[in-house]
Amino acid sequence: MKHTLIIIVALASLCFNSMAQDRYININSDNVSLIYHVGDNGRLYQAYLGPRLSHKSDYANLTGDIEAYLTHGMEDYFEPALHIEHSDGNSSTELKYVSHSVASAADGASRTTISLADDQYPTTVELIFDVYAHQDVIVEHAEITNGEKRPVKLHSYASSLLSINRSHYFLTEFSGDWANEVNMSESELNFGKKVLDTKLGSRASMFMPSFFQLSLDAPATETSGNVLVGTLAWTGNYRFTFEIDQHHRLRVISGINPYFSTYELKSAEKFVTPDFIFTYSTGGRGKASRNLHSWARNYRLKNGTGNRMTLLNNWEATYFDFNEEKLVGLMDDAVRLGVDMFLLDDGWFGNKYPRSSDHQGLGDWQETESKLPHKVGYLCEQAAKKGIKFGIWIEPEMVNPKSELYERHKDWVIHLPNRKVYYFRNQMVLDLSNPAVQDHVFGVVDRLMTAYPQIAFFKWDCNSPITNIFSPYLKDKQTHLYVDYVRGLYKVLERIRAKYPDLPMMLCSGGGGRIDYEALKYFTEFWPSDNTDPVERLYIQYGFSSVYPAKAQCAHVTTWNKNASIKFRVDVASMGKLGFDIKCSDLKEDEIKFCREAIGNYNRLKPVILDGDMYRLVSPYEGNHASTMMVDDAKDHAVLFAFDINPRYSEHLLPVKLQGLDPNRNYRITEINRMGDWPLGCDGKTYSGEFLMTVGLHLFSTSRLKSHVLELTVQ
Ligand code: DGJ
Repeated sequence: MKHTLIIIVALASLCFNSMAQDRYININSDNVSLIYHVGDNGRLYQAYLGPRLSHKSDYANLTGDIEAYLTHGMEDYFEPALHIEHSDGNSSTELKYVSHSVASAADGASRTTISLADDQYPTTVELIFDVYAHQDVIVEHAEITNGEKRPVKLHSYASSLLSINRSHYFLTEFSGDWANEVNMSESELNFGKKVLDTKLGSRASMFMPSFFQLSLDAPATETSGNVLVGTLAWTGNYRFTFEIDQHHRLRVISGINPYFSTYELKSAEKFVTPDFIFTYSTGGRGKASRNLHSWARNYRLKNGTGNRMTLLNNWEATYFDFNEEKLVGLMDDAVRLGVDMFLLDDGWFGNKYPRSSDHQGLGDWQETESKLPHKVGYLCEQAAKKGIKFGIWIEPEMVNPKSELYERHKDWVIHLPNRKVYYFRNQMVLDLSNPAVQDHVFGVVDRLMTAYPQIAFFKWDCNSPITNIFSPYLKDKQTHLYVDYVRGLYKVLERIRAKYPDLPMMLCSGGGGRIDYEALKYFTEFWPSDNTDPVERLYIQYGFSSVYPAKAQCAHVTTWNKNASIKFRVDVASMGKLGFDIKCSDLKEDEIKFCREAIGNYNRLKPVILDGDMYRLVSPYEGNHASTMMVDDAKDHAVLFAFDINPRYSEHLLPVKLQGLDPNRNYRITEINRMGDWPLGCDGKTYSGEFLMTVGLHLFSTSRLKSHVLELTVQ
């Protein structure tokens, strides 16, 4: 009898637990769990976000109770993820759980879709989570459908709301400006809101790219601590709102910036928000970055697992002042250096208003006859004869008022009809919400590719934010402009990718003014900054590496900092996608020889540098030195870069501990990219991975602007 009772109680409790578990939706990667809970009231709450919980029986003990996709007008007093004004003027929405399902996404990710609906209005929301299990990356977006007979207005429509309950929150932001991108600063969050956003429209992230690091409980280091890194894949205005409530719980709302962007949704129309991509690491910031790099290379970046070409760009060598002879001479320089491609920058187009400066010609994409009498075809031929590829610069979204395009199509230009025009870099932004403008922008690439199929690369620039915000095309829907501009851009990029799937393209925006993971579906790489001073680049490349892999970051050797040796400049640039923007006449013979050899090393080591795991060993922000290493998947091969920036005269120098190696294997060290100086003491020696990671190597000196590159090969 006693036994029977125990069995009945056990069965009942099992049954209760399994019912309870049914009310939980777990979204798990290898090491992370995001768990939702359907409350007794039928609404959806986030129960947990953190290190993976593997025992489902524990879920019922989770205490997280902030609504998963908080709506305006209900009892929670904090910032909502969704604010809909219904067709009857009622601004409240209450979402209840309907169902959820798990399936495979097109790229193999595991996709969880949670469907929610309002029982007073036929509004539905789907929250969609794609999980990349091995990378611990979750890509979230929302789809909002208007089931009403009349249009509704979306006042805010976030991609994601995550809630976290920890003792302290430390936010790292990456602010800056032209030639001064991604300065990292960390601050503790307290009650109230901290907003990171942009309202610049086209050159949207000029002051701050759309990503952040958030350390939980205590500031994370590169190798320790809990950190959430998030980024919005949207090539326009974004907003991250970090809000701490009265119980010290943090809500992170990520999405399109609702500023001047109320969006009218027609009956049966669906609004698909951009992806919010995040990873959660218990192993510090380094692990979080590696998660995102690996995810990007494998699933997001255009040709993410493919090769990248080294190049010589003429921008800093000539600016607008060139002709055929000069360009062909630079192609010879490209050959002497041993790069794969010559890239022709701004200044090659315009006849009525030749593009002799940034004051005119933008929009008129015909070769300037006085500069290029034999057109781009001749340059392609010359490059082919010399055994290199040819690439070309465009800025197709923009127009100078002094251009034939502007004279013909003022109605294609974003401008306020009744006010004085405000220019940024003497130019204006074309209205990509207009399909005719989309055709024009697509046509810029398509016409060039049709005329000159040998073109092997595009650098796509975007130097102006949207000024004078008014679309002649959108008429009474002006608040759609920021969103429809970006959607128009995607339509164009989609057409280009469909017609020219293998065409590599660089995303540029007056330096690093517009970079995000939606644009990078269409671009193989981006230009992080016009600032190519190698010391500044140590910081800029470091900042961008928080989220973007080395493979995507173009890094060019120039004359910006003549105090830095050519070796130092090449070593810094070799940590990314290597290029040159220099004339051979700026270099001595031994420097050219050095560059050739370094490019040879780079080509040989590309699989490690561009596709390996990145370990940031010493941050330039720590002061006087910097060091980064990359290790291939098999842990057979690694490359380490070390830089003395501004050391003190009698600094106490410590060995640097390496990371990512196999402790039980031996690695032979060879110093490469040498130029005259004595090699480091470790050159030619063999060490165990354990030694290298526990004791470390002496990499630094007290001399300014010294650098070393080490190749580690397993024995
Ligand atoms: C800004 C870019 O960042 C530069 O590299 C160069 O292409 C100029 N525009 C050309 O105008």
